[in-house]
Amino acid sequence: MSPQGEREPASRDLDPPTLVEWSLGERVAPLILDETRVWIIDLDAGLSPGESAESAEPGPERELLCEDERTRAARFVRPRDRRRFIRCRAALREILGGLLAESAASLRFRAVGQGKPELDQSSESTDSENDRLTLRFNVSHSAELALIAVCRGRELGVDLERVRPISEAARIVDSFFTIAEQSAFALIGREDQSIAFHRGWTRKEAILKALGVGISGLAARHETGFGTTPLTTQFTVATPSGRVGEWILWEAAPRTGFVAALAVRARRSTEPSADAESAGASTSLPASPGSP
Ligand SMILES: CC(C)(COP(=O)(O)OP(=O)(O)OC[C@H]1O[C@@H](n2cnc3c(N)ncnc32)[C@H](O)[C@@H]1OP(=O)(O)O)[C@@H](O)C(=O)NCCC(=O)NCCS
Repeated sequence: MSPQGEREPASRDLDPPTLVEWSLGERVAPLILDETRVWIIDLDAGLSPGESAESAEPGPERELLCEDERTRAARFVRPRDRRRFIRCRAALREILGGLLAESAASLRFRAVGQGKPELDQSSESTDSENDRLTLRFNVSHSAELALIAVCRGRELGVDLERVRPISEAARIVDSFFTIAEQSAFALIGREDQSIAFHRGWTRKEAILKALGVGISGLAARHETGFGTTPLTTQFTVATPSGRVGEWILWEAAPRTGFVAALAVRARRSTEPSADAESAGASTSLPASPGSP
């Protein structure tokens, strides 16, 4: 029985996460316990006629951001990157604000562990605070897309990557994947290696982001494999590794040329996992494959 007195569903009973499109100002439907929803955000959308994503200045989304976020946005040199950051933050605020029935602009965040954002809690124990405690979220962005995954009652992590050639894929696999995974990767044909690498990478990142740690030596602790079965736009259970330790792993290709993985904790809890407690000393490595 869960602390709430309800039967905890076995992981196989969990409904697959649904993927929904985000647009500014749209109503957010409530999320029930154990439900996972993933919003996809087109970061270059919402342009006025004649505007280009390369040069457009941020629109009304900017008004939703706090001072710190605006300062961070101002550090981006390219207008395109500034606008993408602002749209992603605005989406996160609107989604969480909608789920909590609070104003998007008033939400406050804090970073835990190695930088994982969480909703800031006040010291008061009100219904609204309890509501916040059960709401877990994680964000990932790659090029012009972002994913925002939210679950009520379970920790989760999401990772999205645009598939592109990675010249050092084999070296990265040797560094961060298990011996069995290294052998499996070596058997994948050259033409399939890029997609396989990104699938393996996003699977590991999703788990590590759920734990709130960076990609590191810990990556080899979670054997996720690469996955060769076709992906669909909606999330389906990863094969053959749908369950990795305490994580249920889902995968999708939300848009052509992108792959995503989502790790949802198999049991309900707002407490850090045993993995997270022992993960303090991870070494930081490239945040994205091939990044400097
Ligand atoms: C978190 C991390 C895994 C992100 O990897 P990424 O593939 O480049 O980025 P993604 O787009 O998937 O995720 C970024 C988002 O994840 C969230 N995030 C940040 N740190 C996180 C963490 N430790 N765990 C989970 N989520 C995190 C944020 O919402 C961030 O969005 P923002 O950049 O708009 O604030 C990576 O930065 C990392 O390894 N961090 C660990 C700490 C570290 O090494 N810091 C050194 C930075 S120089």
